[in-house]
Amino acid sequence: MKNNHAFSDAEKQAVYRAIGQRRDVRRFRSEPIDDDILQRILQAAAHAPSVGYMQPWNFLIIRDATVRKEIHDAFVVANNEAKEMFEGERKDAYAALKLEGITESALNICITCDRSRFGKVILGRTHQPDMDLYSSVCAVQNLWLAARAEGVGVGWVSIIKAEDLQSILRLPENVVPIAYLCVGYTDSFASEPELKTYGWLPEIPLEDLIFYDSWGKTKK
Ligand SMILES: Cc1cc2nc3c(=O)[nH]c(=O)nc-3n(C[C@H](O)[C@H](O)[C@H](O)COP(=O)(O)O)c2cc1C
Repeated sequence: MKNNHAFSDAEKQAVYRAIGQRRDVRRFRSEPIDDDILQRILQAAAHAPSVGYMQPWNFLIIRDATVRKEIHDAFVVANNEAKEMFEGERKDAYAALKLEGITESALNICITCDRSRFGKVILGRTHQPDMDLYSSVCAVQNLWLAARAEGVGVGWVSIIKAEDLQSILRLPENVVPIAYLCVGYTDSFASEPELKTYGWLPEIPLEDLIFYDSWGKTKK
């Protein structure tokens, strides 16, 4: 049967290129991002799927240097704690990693999840209450991919206590931070994940991750 819904080859290649060449970017140039580009990547984020069409996200655009310094200070505290959780050589290897670009990127975006949007009972969330969180994560990924297509780097910083983000960004009680993102132009997108390149963890072959019909069953 002819599939009339597929993209053209060139369009498919572009989609797979954005997916394959998306990177977590931690080194930024400081020049600003055009408003129309920012608008497009935010629109891509807002086109994400969401449980019951809840659209639980907000996008906090953070440019203010004072706010960013507070966030960076919170990162430094958490990162020092994180380092102590690793043993021996691993601790030194961790300390050598660059894991954020909070102050040097053009801007930061915090994507949040409003856990009370449209009330208590949401279609599809009735038995798995965390589905709103996952919906906001889908928005993160859309933004990340659209930014890659625009040549804009995005780096996710999760080494910050959620309660610090909550208080620094004055989030209401019902709103939780999902992703704190550094966003800006970069000199290069690495060809593979940096943590793979540095030997932090290996890439898992796809075939080892696929099971059929029940957990652990590898034959079709
Ligand atoms: C939920 C999540 C949290 C992350 N937190 C951090 C972080 O705090 N610092 C960092 O440098 N990278 C962070 N990353 C980026 C990952 O390290 C990166 O995605 C992974 O190593 C694969 O590399 P790639 O994104 O370049 O393909 C995070 C990624 C995800 C999905």
